[in-house]
Amino acid sequence: MLITGAGGQLGRALVEEFPEARALTRAEWDVALPAPEGLVESELVLHAAAWTDVDGAEDDPQGAAAVNVGGTANAAALGAPLVYYSSDYVFDGEKSEPYVESDGPRPQSAYGRSKLHGEAAAGEGSWIVRSSWLFGPTGNNFVRTMLRLGTERNEVAVVDDQRGSPTYVAHLARATRELLAFPPGVWHVAAAGECTWAEFAEAIFAAAGLACRVRRITTAELGRPAARPAYSVLRSEKKAPELPHWREGLRETLERLD
Ligand SMILES: NC(=O)c1ccc[n+]([C@@H]2O[C@H](COP(=O)([O-])OP(=O)(O)OC[C@H]3O[C@@H](n4cnc5c(N)ncnc54)[C@H](OP(=O)(O)O)[C@@H]3O)[C@@H](O)[C@H]2O)c1
Repeated sequence: MLITGAGGQLGRALVEEFPEARALTRAEWDVALPAPEGLVESELVLHAAAWTDVDGAEDDPQGAAAVNVGGTANAAALGAPLVYYSSDYVFDGEKSEPYVESDGPRPQSAYGRSKLHGEAAAGEGSWIVRSSWLFGPTGNNFVRTMLRLGTERNEVAVVDDQRGSPTYVAHLARATRELLAFPPGVWHVAAAGECTWAEFAEAIFAAAGLACRVRRITTAELGRPAARPAYSVLRSEKKAPELPHWREGLRETLERLD
């Protein structure tokens, strides 16, 4: 078993969940390049390597595609069954009820397009695991950013018009193991519960005992380069493994930071 992107936040959680796997960081395999010798014997590839800089992809869509599409094709070329992690950002966000597996994707950003094309590059025999708003105790994520800002400032401005399901990487890693007993295909695997980024920030400050206020702003006020779906809650119509509530993931993340 092989894990790509093993230094990322999901990659690290997969390494903990699958200690038997061979774990390769970016330094050990840049997936935009063909696989190094000796990996063709892999029985399963958990492909967590990805370009995840959503705004940066707008400036360099080809760079994002080289990793998310070309890198996925390189992982698939190993010939082993593949688990490809995809994103809620493949959807346009115009629904007001959860996106299920049969909903048509319509990405609004270069990142979202690269993740959708990556799904095709993974191939039909793969598990396409769409998840959302990943966080955990390591790496770059919203929880860690808020904890830092919450100690530096009295108030932070956070968008309140994007709604999704923040998903704890260890819960996603555990569900990946369960999902391997299900047939390949597209699966929606995200935390139970939903919130806006502002509501998530308030929950983070409350749970961490920080007195920082959240000023609710709009996506337009924040003015980021990449468009993001206004609503991207994912649910499974195929009875995918269910994840705990995002508040449980937040609690576990804060415990691991202490
Ligand atoms: N983060 C989210 O909110 C979110 C939501 C839905 C789906 N996903 C998907 O979930 C998966 C895991 O995301 P994550 O949050 O764990 O991201 P992450 O923390 O940014 O991890 C991605 C890892 O991939 C590595 N990487 C980047 N380019 C690479 C390359 N060319 N070759 C090999 N490794 C490369 C990164 O290394 P460097 O750090 O050195 O660049 C990093 O270790 C991705 O497929 C992502 O699209 C993420």
